[in-house]
Amino acid sequence: MEPQIEWNKIGFGYIPTDYNIRSYYHNGKWSEPEVTDDLNISLSIAATCLHYGQEAFEGLKARRCPDGKVRIFRLEENAARMQATARGIVMAEVSTELFREMAIKVVELNKRFIPPYESGASLYIRPLLIGTSAQVGVSPAEDYTFLMFVTPVGPYFKGGFATNNYMIVRQFDRSAPLGTGRYKVGGNYAASLLANHMAHEQGYACEFYLDAKEKKYIDECGAANFFGIRDNTYITPKSTSILPSITNKSLQQVALDLGLRVECRQIPEEELLTFEEAGACGTAAVISPINKIDDVEKGVSYQISKDGKPGPISTLLYNRLTGIMYGTEPDIHGWNTVLDL
Ligand SMILES: Cc1ncc(COP(=O)(O)O)c(C=O)c1O
Repeated sequence: MEPQIEWNKIGFGYIPTDYNIRSYYHNGKWSEPEVTDDLNISLSIAATCLHYGQEAFEGLKARRCPDGKVRIFRLEENAARMQATARGIVMAEVSTELFREMAIKVVELNKRFIPPYESGASLYIRPLLIGTSAQVGVSPAEDYTFLMFVTPVGPYFKGGFATNNYMIVRQFDRSAPLGTGRYKVGGNYAASLLANHMAHEQGYACEFYLDAKEKKYIDECGAANFFGIRDNTYITPKSTSILPSITNKSLQQVALDLGLRVECRQIPEEELLTFEEAGACGTAAVISPINKIDDVEKGVSYQISKDGKPGPISTLLYNRLTGIMYGTEPDIHGWNTVLDL
């Protein structure tokens, strides 16, 4: 039965779905995945995920495509990033095979929640890894739970591909150069909430981070990577404190495929003056083009878009990458897992 959801009206919230899937790590082994319709988890009050932040997550999407098939984008990359995160905060690693099996299964089981292509909405897959051992000493858990749930999410751009304004925050750091910024752990997001709230209060779409050590180089745009375009070159920050975005990695490849040059290096704040186009990139929006970036404390405004609209190269990159995701452009790098559902 079709769920009673107005696909055109959903946002990026949480809509419960029929099933989720779980595997348990005990005595050094992951269990066979278990399917459940229970939307809650039962945990010890002393579980390490609650006290010491032993939690990691991922985010990827399954899309209903014009050819009727369902495509999941680069799930092996999400598995690899979750493995890196697990090593980074000393948790049990989930193999790519288990990650893949569970992702496919959870999408199949909740197939009635995959939004139709025309709505622009998609099915967001949220893998979650938590330390569950009961202990009050600060040390890694022995036992872990790995689960995946799905929820339909709306298109990022309700009124079409459009630009946003960002605000440089100098009084907060999301992560330290040798800290956990490169991992997808909840603590980084807790550290960003106040800055994000402040940016919203001041009428900006999102906060924009400089490197924590020198406050000189560009790091990230909220929960998205940054890129700038100049002289047919795609330029993106090299930093140890940003999350290695899979969308950014894909855009770099698409840029090369389109004949652009790619530079991954430190980007001084002042270089913002020179970009012809810039954007934030991530799973949620693919590309969110940037109109301007204000450094309120310095009293400087970097106007990037000349007419308030997305630039031609960002549009080209967006169309090519979303075309691959929806199966309307050839998937020459083998990025999609294609399901007949
Ligand atoms: C902090 C942060 N940076 C960047 C990204 C973009 O990464 P991806 O393209 O893999 O979604 C995300 C979202 O996952 C994020 O949370």
